[in-house]
Amino acid sequence: MDAGSKRKGLAERIAEEHAAIRGALEEIRAEVDRLRAEAGPEHGAGRLPALLRDFDQHLRRHFELEEEGGFFGEWTGLDPGKHRRVERLLAQHRSLERGVSALVDGASRAEARRAPLSEAFVSGLRKLLADLLRHEKAENELAQELALQDTGGGD
Ligand SMILES: [Fe+2]
Ligand SMILES: [Fe+2]
Repeated sequence: MDAGSKRKGLAERIAEEHAAIRGALEEIRAEVDRLRAEAGPEHGAGRLPALLRDFDQHLRRHFELEEEGGFFGEWTGLDPGKHRRVERLLAQHRSLERGVSALVDGASRAEARRAPLSEAFVSGLRKLLADLLRHEKAENELAQELALQDTGGGD
């Protein structure tokens, strides 16, 4: 397999990975919306603690793949602008991970107290979901640009 088609394959795998991440985020969002619509202490944290714990594991594996499995590492000889974009995106992983861990803790506490989700928790969660979507979208765009660059479609 030549370098160009290898990178195109990587871009496709990144897009597939990100589709799975978006699916998981959508499920979390739907559960929050459901809990908010059915407000009341009896609804507590619902499936949210379990969904967030699964997502936390999923996201860590995903970031590992991007950092060590060679997704973005496979692209060598990047121009300085693209290199900076890769660095910036990978640098966001740690703060996104911390954000998800904090949500896991918050949801687990609500579950233990059988308490409804606080406003602060819900707005923090919505903000993190938006940050994650933005991060993955920027990676998709970069991967596509890099794959195009290989096929001579742009730079
Ligand atoms: Fe990433
Ligand atoms: Fe990603």
